[in-house]
Amino acid sequence: MLQKSIKQYLEYLKLSGIQDIYFSGQKTPSQKKKKVVMETDHAELLSALEEKYRNCNKCSLWKGRNKFCYGNGDPQAKLMLIGEGPGADEDRTGKVFVGRAGQLLTKMLQAINLSRDEVYIANIVKCRPPDNRNPLPEEKQACLPYLKEQISIIQPKILLLLGRVAAVTLLETDLPLKAFRETEYEFMGIRTFVTYHPSALLRNPGWKKFAWIDLQNVQREYQSL
Ligand code: URA
Repeated sequence: MLQKSIKQYLEYLKLSGIQDIYFSGQKTPSQKKKKVVMETDHAELLSALEEKYRNCNKCSLWKGRNKFCYGNGDPQAKLMLIGEGPGADEDRTGKVFVGRAGQLLTKMLQAINLSRDEVYIANIVKCRPPDNRNPLPEEKQACLPYLKEQISIIQPKILLLLGRVAAVTLLETDLPLKAFRETEYEFMGIRTFVTYHPSALLRNPGWKKFAWIDLQNVQREYQSL
């Protein structure tokens, strides 16, 4: 009965020249188009910047570089992860977190129902430090504007810092990782959390249970967005 009257009402609207109706919360074609255009803008902007910086020589890391590792993922991600710097596999491919640590990171994300395509991942430095040493202060300072620019384009709602190098650099506080994990921070106005770097978890599998707690916390925040 109700179905019949809805059908009649729709027929009536059609005869009156109304072709499309939208339910509350549903996007009109022009709104959908706008989102697609905005997504393209973010993606285009990031790839234009990647192209612009790829021959960067602001610090000495360029001398050993094969590939500049700008960052990968969704240019409009709500969650952005920040590691330390490229390793050998990343330097070879130009993609972040593709080696053993990257494979673990993929699994960590899967554990909270996220794929790598849904997040954006970048590093504190975009070129590989020799022998995977920690980046030097001058290298981090040279590279930081690129990361800040990425963050302001992507506008994530949550930042997850992977390891102490990312935390000390961005939060400008020198704490043990355990202490970093206990607090929520703000970086560039964005809610920021800290967990173990996947390489540290590969060396110390016993810490995975603590990383799991951090990931579940991030998942809760992500789901409430
Ligand atoms: N470790 C990092 O911090 N970043 C990478 O991209 C790979 C390993």
